[in-house]
Amino acid sequence: MEIIIQPTPEAGSIIAARIIAKLVRSKPDCVLGLATGSTPLGTYRELTRMHREDELDFSRVTTFNLDEYVGLPPEHPQSYRAFMAENFFRHVNVDARHTHIPDGMARDVPGECAHYEEAIRAAGGIDLQLLGIGSDGHIGFNEPTSSLASRTRIKTLTERTRADNARFFGGDLAQVPFHCITMGVGTIMAAREVLMLAFGANKADAVTGAVEGPITAMNPASVLQMHAVAKCVVDEAAAAKLARREYYRWVYANKPDWQRITG
Ligand code: GLP
Repeated sequence: MEIIIQPTPEAGSIIAARIIAKLVRSKPDCVLGLATGSTPLGTYRELTRMHREDELDFSRVTTFNLDEYVGLPPEHPQSYRAFMAENFFRHVNVDARHTHIPDGMARDVPGECAHYEEAIRAAGGIDLQLLGIGSDGHIGFNEPTSSLASRTRIKTLTERTRADNARFFGGDLAQVPFHCITMGVGTIMAAREVLMLAFGANKADAVTGAVEGPITAMNPASVLQMHAVAKCVVDEAAAAKLARREYYRWVYANKPDWQRITG
């Protein structure tokens, strides 16, 4: 895994947006895997700025989001469909017909999950998957003990994740759904490239486990150690417990010019 340490979340978000923009420019019909939560917001803002000011064109891009709450209709303000519209889709020229998010209202949940996997396959697979990480190491909504080979399916959220996410529901834990549909760890691992972001001190333990710990379903993000092209962009606070953080800084500072992230 390549670890990129940046001074602030803002600087990390700019790096992440540049990585995504480079892909979109080199492959205008690429397939992006997208994430929700507070972590990717700065990346979406920077991509929006690039769309407005630097002609970054999303018109041929296809997107698949990681997950959705079960029981929230798309128009519910806390649904991930609404989140993506509000924070990204409405600000750029992505074609709404090319944006995919699991249907949290599906009557046949297993059927919806199989359909989602099939849609990813039919689109040619995900070129780049953007990820945040939960404070317990979850990616998507793959909570600890999730099968590292899992595909899109229903999951029950942990109490900790429900409590973490209650802030989006006005702090009212009772409003947070218990279930979600999420891409599996195996679905995420099938992406050609993975870009995980983690900002803030409350992510430091999860990041350290994911990057330097053993590969274990107790920290699902640790499976990214098995991915051939995985980058992890962290701010100083999230990097604070990494034993080898000086080494990661040294590697990043001494990359050959052609490998540098610019733009
Ligand atoms: C949420 C999402 C994840 C996200 C994580 C961290 O529950 N399902 O995709 O990465 O938890 O959220 P945040 O970025 O708000 O800390």
